[in-house]
Amino acid sequence: MRSIVIEDHFVAWRAASLGALGEGLAPEAIEWRVRQEPESSQEQALFDYGATSEKTEPRPTAVHVSKELAALLQDAALFRESQRWAFLYKVLWRWQHGDRAVASPADADGARLHRMAKSVRRARHDMLAYVRFRKQASGSAVQTPEYIAWYEPEHDVLAWAAEHFAQRMGRSTWMITTPRGAAFWDGQQLHLEQRRGLPGDHRCDTADEAEALWLAYYRSTFNPARLNEAALEQHMPVRFWKGLPEGHLIPAMISEAKSGARRVAQASGVGALGGKIIPIEADMAQPVRDQPSSLDTCRRCDLWRNATQAVGSSGPSDARIMLIGEQPGDQEDLSGQPFVGPAGQLLTIAITRAGLSRDQVYLTNAVKHFKWEPRGKRRLHKTPGQREIEACSFWLERELRTVRPAVIVALGATALTALLRGKVSLRDHLDAPFRVEGGWGIATYHPSFALRQQNDADRDKVLAEISNALMRARELAESATPTATKPQQ
Ligand code: URA
Repeated sequence: MRSIVIEDHFVAWRAASLGALGEGLAPEAIEWRVRQEPESSQEQALFDYGATSEKTEPRPTAVHVSKELAALLQDAALFRESQRWAFLYKVLWRWQHGDRAVASPADADGARLHRMAKSVRRARHDMLAYVRFRKQASGSAVQTPEYIAWYEPEHDVLAWAAEHFAQRMGRSTWMITTPRGAAFWDGQQLHLEQRRGLPGDHRCDTADEAEALWLAYYRSTFNPARLNEAALEQHMPVRFWKGLPEGHLIPAMISEAKSGARRVAQASGVGALGGKIIPIEADMAQPVRDQPSSLDTCRRCDLWRNATQAVGSSGPSDARIMLIGEQPGDQEDLSGQPFVGPAGQLLTIAITRAGLSRDQVYLTNAVKHFKWEPRGKRRLHKTPGQREIEACSFWLERELRTVRPAVIVALGATALTALLRGKVSLRDHLDAPFRVEGGWGIATYHPSFALRQQNDADRDKVLAEISNALMRARELAESATPTATKPQQ
């Protein structure tokens, strides 16, 4: 097996492939590997298209491919997939050995190649359509580009799109940042930096006058009576909304349209119809939902659409105490970690006061995606509904089976509802531990309830209640017999 290491771009692959063909290396005799970081200095991270590794260019051979295949290879090379270079080499190898079917969509490899190229072309089109540059405040001591855009392309189309913008934006300096690299135009020259993930999120949050005008215009063109959500989402898929200045307006405009003009028009007609009321148990009324293999792919309810990511748990999976919160908040949604925002900081204080530490307890939430509504530029927390709690119980039940804690602390009403699988009153459960899941359950306030108190005294009172509940949890965990060996997940 020959290992070929290339930089992660088409030109490097092409040079290496011509060498490999020259040596008669069959696809199955090669292991394609990508050099993780461009060598040494920062300077070299700014690559130009011609840069290839000398080591990967043994005795190149000439290959004549059709124009169509050349374009397909070049486009498919931008498709994000770890096996792309091996696959493209297989295509080239078959072509070189006279197997012309490989370029046809009727062939299995050909079909895959066409699919990849098509997906990349779509990603290019999307990038041109949905990148939004925002003007930066001038007068900063640090020299920054005049315009900055944040975008999350589906494939490696940054360099291609950057060329496009470079030709159209004259001498203005700009920068497009993405999770995997950045393009910078200094007014004369394009610089590309390709990294496996830039540190942090370079989304920019500045608004200029033009943007305010654009938002006002966008709002004014929206006709609630003619809302067609399916068409709207088809033309501007939801995953792009968060990168668009107008993106935060859309959910609110849709919900206003639904609860406003359009509903008014329908309500009287619908209300006039006679009907039958059929009582159904809440769990029977749930739709059949799929069983996703990982939290990232969970589509059991719609909350994933507007969330950055699903947020799982933290803490040891053999913890004696499990704390269940409601759902991730704004900061948890961005960081992917539970309880890292203001409520999390308060919770940490309560945990410490109870004689515990965060890394001793298992922290999770009843609902794993952030539910929010736009308020100006902010994302305001929205309490999850019964349907979302029910959909997400799939994950909580798994966690309960795996961790099998001696004590479960429900932080707030949503957590208690999820734990007891039905709407219950938090107040009725506040004072005494109860039996649940073969151990003890304790209900207390959610730390954000403390945050909402008007004055320090009331806030301290709620915080003291939470730490007392956690202290009770610690005592119960210490006195309960440890459970027998836990099953591996
Ligand atoms: N509130 C919660 O319920 N959970 C978190 O993770 C953060 C805030």
